[in-house]
Formats: sequence, structure tokens, C-alpha cells
Amino acid sequence: MVSRTKSPKPTKVSTTVSKVIRNYQQDKDKLIQILLYLQSTLGWLSREVLTEVSEQLQVPITQVYQIASYYKAFSLMPRGRHIIKVCLGTACQVRGSPRLLDTISAMLNLKPCETSEDMRFTLETVNCLGCCAMGPVVVVDETYHTKPSPSDLRKLFESAK
Ligand code: FES
Repeated sequence: MVSRTKSPKPTKVSTTVSKVIRNYQQDKDKLIQILLYLQSTLGWLSREVLTEVSEQLQVPITQVYQIASYYKAFSLMPRGRHIIKVCLGTACQVRGSPRLLDTISAMLNLKPCETSEDMRFTLETVNCLGCCAMGPVVVVDETYHTKPSPSDLRKLFESAK
């Protein structure tokens, strides 16, 4: 009697990763682009995603982790629906960004690099956003806000669902 073992059913993650890798012609040299695409679609790169990329693209898991943990564009932790970036570059610091960060931190009850329990907000800091003369600068979901007042911030956060 021959016993047959069923191959495991593909998970949602493996199917997603498989589609992305196919779109990039299974090209190992496109590892960064593949990870960027997955990051933008999924919001973060879980261990399961990185393992699938490694196996399906046949790239060592250490290499995948090295890239995913090196670039700031990748997140290995779940991120909120709204990403708030406070610039702590020198020019923004001189113009008061540490105080701005404290205000935002208190409003959202989050420290930098934290995500709210309801997955609404992630608070991050960055070193320069390239518009130093307009500082202090805060970016909320890719929209730049210069010198926002506490009431501007409150309205902004209240409108972000
Ligand atoms: S230092 Fe903040 S934008 Fe350059």
C-alpha cells in the first residue's frame, strides 16, 4: 500500500509572496524591489513573509534579514494605518522639533517607534526630510506639515481614522 502525503495548502502569505516574485521574474537581483513592494502592500515584513521570500526566491534567509533590517524603508514590526514622522535633524531641532515630538508623543500616548494598540498610529523620528528651512517638520501619511500648532495636530489626528 502506498501512502501519500498531501503537500501543504499554500497560505495567504505564500500566495501573495509568490505573485510578487513572479511579477519580478523570480530575479534574485530584485530582492530589494520585491521587499519594497511587499512592505508597501502589507505595511510590514513579518517573519513569515521573509521566510517565504527566502524559500521561493532561493536566497539565504540571512541575506533577506540583512536587507530587511538594514534599510529604514522596511519595518519588521506591524505599523499603524497612519505613519507620523517627526524630523529631528539639526535644523528642525534648532527650530523646536524636540518640543513638537513631546507634544505629539503626549497627544497619542506613544513614544518614538511605537504603534498604538488600535493600530491607528505609528510614531517615528527621521533625521532630515530635505526641507530644513521650513522646520520643524512633521510628515503624516506622506503629507508635510511645517510648524504645526498643537491645535493643528489635534485636528489632524482626530480626522485620521
Ligand atoms: S532637518 Fe528637518 S527637514 Fe532637514
